[in-house]
Amino acid sequence: MESNSQYCRMDYWDERFKTEQKFEWLSGLDAFQHIVTPLVDQESRIAHIGCGSSHVYMQLYNLGYENITNIDYSQVLIENGRRLHPYMTWIADDITTLANCESASFDVVFEKATIEAVLVTEKSAWEPSDEALRTLESIFSSISRVLKPNGMFISVSFTQPHFRIPALLRQKNWSVEMFEFGENFHYYVYVCRKGTDADNELARRYTSIAKSWLRPL
Ligand SMILES: C[S@@+](CC[C@H](N)C(=O)[O-])C[C@H]1O[C@@H](n2cnc3c(N)ncnc32)[C@H](O)[C@@H]1O
Repeated sequence: MESNSQYCRMDYWDERFKTEQKFEWLSGLDAFQHIVTPLVDQESRIAHIGCGSSHVYMQLYNLGYENITNIDYSQVLIENGRRLHPYMTWIADDITTLANCESASFDVVFEKATIEAVLVTEKSAWEPSDEALRTLESIFSSISRVLKPNGMFISVSFTQPHFRIPALLRQKNWSVEMFEFGENFHYYVYVCRKGTDADNELARRYTSIAKSWLRPL
């Protein structure tokens, strides 16, 4: 039987992408387009990290965003993408390093449900392990490195702000904003702006309950 713990294993994703052409985690762009597209210029260079077989990149492309780089650590997925959509850039890379991406090269880094996949074996939302915090620091510092000086990280997630906002604030050189969408189950769009003061009302409101996400290592 399939278990969620597989979502943090590359061999699981490689096997899955041998046959999977399209699967949309959480939601397609339609449900959050009204939040994201007003924030992003059409000329932006966009990195879609942990892209999987989501078609958000196609939806963005059809809206006029033509400068999209799809990034995933599954070589199988990246080879399929290159073959089927050669007019986009495809890079096999791990989001904990983004070692194959140049520094200061993207206006926007976008992710959806990939941070959840990376943290899937965590036992408690209240007490993250040291390993989880180290992994998040690596992910966020890699994203910040590949963003241009005023670049933006957009993360679409089901993780409650009391847990995700303090985690995002481990990265010191960006601010965090939050939007919500969804009718029954609610999802969140977290927007981190590089080079902007992180000390704001939202940060104060959401860092007092689950403090462990901000604890020093
Ligand atoms: C839950 S799926 C989300 C896919 C897509 N973003 C969506 O919303 O439909 C997680 C994706 O992240 C990729 N992934 C997981 N860990 C990764 C890592 N450390 N580096 C790069 N990609 C990773 C997997 O291969 C998979 O495509």
